[in-house]
Amino acid sequence: MTQQQTWSQRFESALHPTIARFNASIHFDIELIEYDLTGSVAHAKMLAKCGIISSEEGEQLVTGLEQIRQEYRQGNFNPGVDSEDVHFAVEHRLVEIVGDVGKKLHTGRSRNDQVGTDTRLYLRAQIQQIQSLIREFQTVLVDIAEQNVETLIPGYTHLQRAQPLSLAHHLLAYFQMTQRDWERLGDVYRRVNISPLGCGALAGTTFPIDRHYSAQLLHFDKVYDNSLDGVSDRDFAIEFLSAASLIMVHLSRLSEEVILWSSEEFGFVTLKDSCATGSSIMPQKKNPDVPELVRGKTGRVFGHLQAMLVMMKGLPLAYNKDLQEDKEGLFDAVNTVKACLAAMTILLREGLEFCDRRLATAVASDFSNATDVADYLAARGVPFREAYNLVGKVVKTSIAAGKLLKDLSLSEWKELHPKFENDIYEAISPRQVVAARNSYGGTGFEQVTKALQAARDQIKSVNRE
Ligand code: ARG
Repeated sequence: MTQQQTWSQRFESALHPTIARFNASIHFDIELIEYDLTGSVAHAKMLAKCGIISSEEGEQLVTGLEQIRQEYRQGNFNPGVDSEDVHFAVEHRLVEIVGDVGKKLHTGRSRNDQVGTDTRLYLRAQIQQIQSLIREFQTVLVDIAEQNVETLIPGYTHLQRAQPLSLAHHLLAYFQMTQRDWERLGDVYRRVNISPLGCGALAGTTFPIDRHYSAQLLHFDKVYDNSLDGVSDRDFAIEFLSAASLIMVHLSRLSEEVILWSSEEFGFVTLKDSCATGSSIMPQKKNPDVPELVRGKTGRVFGHLQAMLVMMKGLPLAYNKDLQEDKEGLFDAVNTVKACLAAMTILLREGLEFCDRRLATAVASDFSNATDVADYLAARGVPFREAYNLVGKVVKTSIAAGKLLKDLSLSEWKELHPKFENDIYEAISPRQVVAARNSYGGTGFEQVTKALQAARDQIKSVNRE
């Protein structure tokens, strides 16, 4: 089938072959074919129900469309650039299969509402898959957290040792981030799941169609109320890309931590062979390629968000061909997020080993218990700021003397302030420093145990909530 035949009789000559290739989207929008077929089946059924075509014709269309689905699944439907896009490709094949009745399929719709429908059906399915991948990631995260409630890890601000933490608390921070991601996707879903089908080219149609019926067949929650908006809205895709970007931010931050932790300087984790790679020249190397790639891939998802925003900002209503550019970035963002979630889940599940001894040494050999000394005095009536200044002084003299706070004798403590008693040693032991932070949402073991249970409960809730 040539381009001339695709379009109306007003065209006298075919497209220049380079322009045909430039114009075509079939090489990427073939990704939408299953959704295109599903959308067309619903449209055909609606046309029959409304008496716009006969029910026999409706059945012929549906049978033909399902045959195309089989052909595609068996690898026997591979439309080329001649078809321009997936919508024309399907329509042409349908006419080949069912004859002239196939030409009735496009009654009362346009490729503009059709492509909008396909993209929403695609994204709806992808959102559900991504939500499931988030759940798998969270499950592994919580499993590891559960085994490490009492494992201590230095906590940082400004990448300087700050206060020790329960490792579970640290990991559960990522549970919270991805929980927001999961919820955000559910929220985006609500605005993805609106049917533009039947908006026509831009103004609706002269046929007595039933948009609510086709929407219902496709399990859309509702229909677009304005046909111009229906064919030209891509907010839902931008919202998705924004949610996808935040998922990548979270995965990238975790990746950065894993990369740091696996360095010799930190030494908090070792990478297992199944998730690490070697160097082609330095035989001693074991590289954290998985988190590095996740961190590296984050930029392209941000880029797709930016590209879509810029593409949209100057578009007059309604459809413009610019909108064909919405797909590749969207597909790539979906594929990237899915691949990164899957890889990070495997990395967590079987690629990391926390080095308990190194972690224990780390939290016992710094001044990250200094706040607790100040808190000790403040709890005994000394104004916090005064206590804080006092401890600053003792940290300074201890560093000069090559000592840690735990190395001070009781008389040295008492010299500093008479309120110090023998229980100061227990108060500044790393375990107690962590346990004592029992305020709501804090790292105290009691809080962390509750947070673990809450996380488990949240994981149980199903998609889209
Ligand atoms: N391939 C087109 C796209 O992806 C389909 C819609 C074409 N509509 C049109 N008026 N040319 O946007």
